[in-house]
Amino acid sequence: MPRIEIAPNVFWIGVNDYNTELFEGLWPVSEKGVSYNSYLLKDQKNVLIDLVKSSYFDEFLYQIKQVIEPRDLHYIVVNHMEPDHSGTLSLLREVAPQATILCTPQAQPMIQAFYHLEKGIQTVQDGDELSLGTKKLQFFFIPFVHWPETMVTFEQSFGILFSCDAFGGYGALKGTIFDDQCQNLDFYIDEALRYYANIVAKFSAMVKKAIAKLSDIKPNVVAPSHGLIWRGNPQQIVELYQKWADFQTTGGEAGVTLLYGTMYGATEKATETFMQGLLKSEVPFEVFDVRKIHPSYILKTLWQNRGVAVAVPTYETGLFPPLAHLLDLAKRKGIAGKKVVYLGSFAWSGGAKRELEKWCADLNWEMIDSLEFKGNPTIQEFQKVEELGNRFGKMIKQVSI
Ligand code: FEO
Repeated sequence: MPRIEIAPNVFWIGVNDYNTELFEGLWPVSEKGVSYNSYLLKDQKNVLIDLVKSSYFDEFLYQIKQVIEPRDLHYIVVNHMEPDHSGTLSLLREVAPQATILCTPQAQPMIQAFYHLEKGIQTVQDGDELSLGTKKLQFFFIPFVHWPETMVTFEQSFGILFSCDAFGGYGALKGTIFDDQCQNLDFYIDEALRYYANIVAKFSAMVKKAIAKLSDIKPNVVAPSHGLIWRGNPQQIVELYQKWADFQTTGGEAGVTLLYGTMYGATEKATETFMQGLLKSEVPFEVFDVRKIHPSYILKTLWQNRGVAVAVPTYETGLFPPLAHLLDLAKRKGIAGKKVVYLGSFAWSGGAKRELEKWCADLNWEMIDSLEFKGNPTIQEFQKVEELGNRFGKMIKQVSI
């Protein structure tokens, strides 16, 4: 998309990326896309705030040139060093060698390590202000949202918060960059939650600190470096991030994530019966085949729902491997406080339940109930499975947070 003016002489000059298969080499984004939002402020001093991924330099340069020539750039603000926002820094420096790079003291050695740039870098301190002429910027450090060196930049005259990863989300920008012009806000909120669970969740305590720290600012526009720019209702995305951060301690909302896998159909049959029980309990639930659905999507729902139903068979005296992989990711992302049930088939010794119990202890999840059966379930076992689903669903609906 061509440049878009957010406020007088404040321009979005970002790019959409549909080509990267896996964001961070891990999370699928090629289908729904992702945006790298960069901003250019024109004043007596011209400032670029955050850049784009290196493979988009040509498009990025074109975007800059729609507003100013690179030689007229005075400052480049690097809020965050992850290369989706800084990857074009070396190339930009070649066409704008006069521009001073502004960053936190923690970012400076990273810039040297990633881009071997030594000169023309100026560090700022938390709360520092910078006058551009008619506009004034202020910098606030928000460590670990997403890396330890991260800060946000606040433009004071129009009240625009350039928040980088904070309040961002997946999803390329289609036709508009603004929340108040967007026809499918639910899509962007859903993709923001997936982004949160994939990228930011581990640092939820720091997200809460950042929101508290920025609470006095009350921005008119929240302009992250991924996803929509929140102009119509800037508080909406802040409140969503607050709610999602709280899930790390509350365990989430009243819903069940059903994780299932099967080898020859025995556990699948039981899972179908379990779902009948869940349905009768009227608890909201979402079902994922762990063999087929990418963990990126599962982590989103796992983060959100306080109930987790695991329905996988024993595999070589332990957990079904795709499920074990998912639990490993859940641990790395700090997903805690869940209520769990297990059901599944075994052929000779069992073992899945035993391994799941160890994972639950490790994850700070509570195993509520379980039902293992040998081979295919009997009529009586099917009945018990349905009762288990119904009981668990009712419990998840009622459990207080
Ligand atoms: Fe969008 Fe942590 O980079």
